[in-house]
Formats: sequence, C-alpha cells, structure tokens
Amino acid sequence: MAIRENPSLPNRHTAYIAKSGGGKSQALKQNKAIPRTGARVLLWDPNRDHKKHSTLFPSNDVAGFNKAVVKAMKSGKGFRLGYIGENGDYDAFDNMFCRLVWECLDGQIPLYILIEELAGVQKSPGVAPPVLQTISNQSRKYGGIMHWTTQKPTEVSKTVISATENFWIGNPGKFSTKAMEDYLAKAAECPNGAADLKALKPLQFYRSDSEKSELVTLKYKNI
Ligand SMILES: Nc1ncnc2c1ncn2[C@@H]1O[C@H](COP(=O)(O)OP(=O)(O)OP(=O)(O)O)[C@@H](O)[C@H]1O
Ligand SMILES: [Mg+2]
Repeated sequence: MAIRENPSLPNRHTAYIAKSGGGKSQALKQNKAIPRTGARVLLWDPNRDHKKHSTLFPSNDVAGFNKAVVKAMKSGKGFRLGYIGENGDYDAFDNMFCRLVWECLDGQIPLYILIEELAGVQKSPGVAPPVLQTISNQSRKYGGIMHWTTQKPTEVSKTVISATENFWIGNPGKFSTKAMEDYLAKAAECPNGAADLKALKPLQFYRSDSEKSELVTLKYKNI
C-alpha cells in the first residue's frame, strides 16, 4: 500500500477533454509537467499512444506487467511502464492497474499515473469503484499525479472529476449536450463560455489551473 504520507504535497491531477482527434494524447505527451526520462510513470494505454517512450504490455500479459513494475520499483530508477488495457475491462483497471498504482506510491518520489480514455473503463459517472476512488482522493499525499484523458466526460466518475485540479479543455464536438458544454466551460474558465470551446481547432485547448486559464495551441509532434 501507499506509504510515507506527506499532506503538504499539492494536487496536480490533470484532465484532458476534447472530441476524438482534438489532440488530447498530444497534449498529454507534450506536457512538460511530466518528465520524459527519470520519472516513475505508469500508463493505462489502450491505443498504444505512448509506445515510443514507454514499454507497453499487452492485455494478456498482466503477469509480465506486474513483474516489470516490481523490478523497476526495486531498481530505484525511473521507468515508463504501461498496460494496453481494453475498454470495458473494469476488473483489470480497478483491481489490477489501480491497485498496482496504489502499491507504488511512496510519498517521496512522484508517481505519474497516465490514463488514456478513462471513460472506457468507467461503469458509471457516479461514485468511482474502490481503488480508483482511493487513488483519486488520496494519491496526492503519497506523490501520485493523475493525468487522464477522455472524449466523454459525462461518462467519467464524479469522484475523479471532483479530485482533478488542472484541465486542458478542447472542442467538445457538435453532439455535446448543453449540460456538458456548461461543465466544460466552467472547467476551462474561458471568457465567453461554451462558444469559446466550440471555436477551438484540433490541438487547441483552454488550459486552466487554480490560478489562471489560457489558450494554448500545440504543434503536432511525432512522439
Ligand atoms: N502526422 C501528423 N501530422 C500532423 N498532424 C497530425 C498527424 N497525425 C495526427 N495529427 C493531428 O493530431 C490530432 C490528433 O491528436 P491526438 O491523437 O492527440 O487526438 P486525441 O484527442 O487524443 O484523439 P482520440 O480521442 O481519438 O484519442 C489530430 O488533429 C490530427 O489531425
Ligand atoms: Mg488520444
């Protein structure tokens, strides 16, 4: 389980929300808040978006993934290890991946927890299942930093959303609902509400944190 609690650590949980092709994976990969080397990184990566800079394990190799994580933790060095989780595999997500994350939190060394398309492993937008709930609400104090993406925020647990501090909000797409647009505009803190979001091009986001919101335009990088 997580050890060496440090309540003074900040909440750096970050969400990337936009329609398909909006640039979420690019934003996550380009985010300098996540060191490219030397850091501890665990990934849930169903579409292998992070294969260039990570070692990914297929969904039929849970044992290999777990073994590699245990070995990497013992080494004391940084690592980027990912599991090619399948959408709808709620059990692997909560009972394997999230549990492993919880075991790797040591309160001193940051652990970056990258989750691509979180909605694919959410049964409901209600209260999160037990281990995801613990990670969302408690991992901050143990050095956990979640970075999660989704096309469908209305399908993501409210437990995760309410624990998230930083947002990259892109274009929600033309089939978004009014309620969803209002929620995203609030998270984005853009000056003219949802109209600002609907005008965004791929790779454009409103990036908001506890202090400010700014418009960011990324350039595609083959990383
Ligand atoms: N080779 C390329 N050169 C330039 N732009 C590209 C290239 N490949 C993809 N793109 C652009 O990058 C964007 C896709 O980014 P990204 O994969 O991060 O989207 P996403 O939001 O993660 O999508 P999804 O929800 O489907 O995973 C698209 O706008 C696409 O046009
Ligand atoms: Mg993506």
